[in-house]
Amino acid sequence: MNAPASRSRFREAEKRRDSDHVSFLRHKGFRWLWIALLLSGASALGYALIDQQPRPNGGTWYGYTLGTIGLGLILWLTMLGVRKRRINPGAWSLKAWTSAHVYLGLSLVVVGTLHTGFQIGWNVHTLAYVLMLLVIATGIYGVVVYAVLPARMSDNRREMTRAQMLDALTALDRQLESAAQPLARDEADLVLAALKQSPFAGGLLARLTGRYPGCATARARKGMAGDSEAEQRVRALLEKRLAQLGQLREALRIRAALEVWLFLHVPLTMALIAALTAHVISVFYYW
Ligand code: HEM
Repeated sequence: MNAPASRSRFREAEKRRDSDHVSFLRHKGFRWLWIALLLSGASALGYALIDQQPRPNGGTWYGYTLGTIGLGLILWLTMLGVRKRRINPGAWSLKAWTSAHVYLGLSLVVVGTLHTGFQIGWNVHTLAYVLMLLVIATGIYGVVVYAVLPARMSDNRREMTRAQMLDALTALDRQLESAAQPLARDEADLVLAALKQSPFAGGLLARLTGRYPGCATARARKGMAGDSEAEQRVRALLEKRLAQLGQLREALRIRAALEVWLFLHVPLTMALIAALTAHVISVFYYW
């Protein structure tokens, strides 16, 4: 193999190793954290050193500089959505993009706040600022769930895939169906209602909180009070079913928590871009 080809294979392998094992927060020895700290530090230092009364705000040359940096950053951060969907890897891995996204996104708190010159009011400029903070806050939530939840997900799964969890439930349901045959009508109806109910029933709130107040299996378990042999057996099976459902619901809850924040992060980004457009137009209109 010639040297450039082997170098490029090495680079590919390195990229893969990086994205396999290093969290995007630690990417390349926290490179983007340092760059973001540098940017934030330089912006704050500039703000502190500029001898100007009143202090620089969006309308001064320093304010324009910070505003331009902030706007450029926000437009670049928005491009992550495009990068995520691109199939060819490009010069930067997705991990590098996400690392830069997170740290440079955080540095906007400093750059954006100094750009406002701490002048807050009921206007489109403050609206853009507040939307930016909301996008950042949802991003922080996203990073926290990405850091915490995958470990919890694998703990909960105990080596089972979601399909295996559903298979285990189906096997249990078959046993329950035959164990419920000797039961009295009202108890058999309770079991039947539990078997009929979809394990996914409950809606978004139930999925996010992991609470299923309408759970027919829990209701059947409560209603199975007698001590006959059939009732004891059904009770034990219902308890197993509840445990199995609990595991499945926990898996659904974790997945929902991993995804739900993007349903805020992305629409808020769109609102931010709209508010920024109005902000920039109004600034130049009244210039
Ligand atoms: C104003 C600043 C920001 C803007 C405009 C912005 C915008 C975006 C956009 C458009 C995406 C792509 C989402 C998609 O298409 O699925 C994204 C993803 C993401 N953002 Fe932000 N973001 C900002 C700040 C932040 C901050 C400060 C953090 C974390 C502290 C963050 C964390 C993330 C993460 C982790 C993803 C990747 C999600 C994934 O890979 O599924 N963002 N952001």
